[in-house]
Amino acid sequence: MATGELNPRIAAVTGGAGGIGEACVARLTASGWRVVVLDRDEERAHAVAKAHGGVGHRIDIGDSASIEAAAEFVEREVGPVSGLACVAAHLENPHRPEAQDPAEWDDIVRVNLTGTFRTMTAFGKGMLARRSGAIVNVGSITAFNSSPLQAYGPTKAGIINMSRNFAVAWGRKGIRVNTVCPGPTRTPAVEASYARGERNPETMIRQTALGRLVQPSEVANAIAFLLSDDASAITGIEVSVDAGVLAAQLWSMYGGVPDAES
Ligand SMILES: NC(=O)c1ccc[n+]([C@@H]2O[C@H](COP(=O)([O-])OP(=O)(O)OC[C@H]3O[C@@H](n4cnc5c(N)ncnc54)[C@H](O)[C@@H]3O)[C@@H](O)[C@H]2O)c1
Repeated sequence: MATGELNPRIAAVTGGAGGIGEACVARLTASGWRVVVLDRDEERAHAVAKAHGGVGHRIDIGDSASIEAAAEFVEREVGPVSGLACVAAHLENPHRPEAQDPAEWDDIVRVNLTGTFRTMTAFGKGMLARRSGAIVNVGSITAFNSSPLQAYGPTKAGIINMSRNFAVAWGRKGIRVNTVCPGPTRTPAVEASYARGERNPETMIRQTALGRLVQPSEVANAIAFLLSDDASAITGIEVSVDAGVLAAQLWSMYGGVPDAES
């Protein structure tokens, strides 16, 4: 871990102004990293950075020039990045494939898939030169099975494949790359969606082994672990932080997950 070091190691978090992103900024800062909060929402990136003692900066991962500029800014103004968490994503509401808006499809692929790829290559330049670094990409459990998130799910499956490619391509250059796949996580944005009646937390809770949804800090814990030296021999893997949704998938055919009393 970076705890207690005189010159703390530097981590960059894209989507750092969002629910899981901010939890990640908080967790990494608590572990001793100096954290750069990168987000398309520049105002909120600065606010989150201020709250946690980090540095805020704008990035639009849907725009290669913005990614390159942000990576250069961080290396020049903050210092050498040794941890990268790619948390930013374009989210999607459920619908049928025939109802897919083509423009939204393009946006989701550009941001989630191309954006994550270019973020790794831009921030990876310094890591490759120094032959040291760790990257965690955020996928989703929708990567592993069918869901009504027609564009989002395939991009998250692609992120897993890309992460494994980078893990092997860059492994002998001292860089580890892993993916954390959250299940339904109670971020402020998701809570607001429950409040608007767009999603039902009870329906989701029924699909979990643990009988509850995930907290943003629990996803952040997995990201911080994989970025830390405690995970020094771990690369090219996926860690699901999903309260057991994937494990429970087949139980609905047998009447559902047993409750605590049965
Ligand atoms: N919350 C969940 O239930 C859940 C489940 C599975 C996976 N995830 C994944 O976790 C990650 C974080 O999601 P969250 O729930 O915290 O969402 P969120 O909406 O709270 O945060 C996403 C952040 O990404 C930023 N962002 C969006 N597009 C961007 C772009 N083009 N460039 C830069 N920043 C951009 C947003 O401004 C926002 O701050 C995402 O990768 C998401 O796919 C979330």
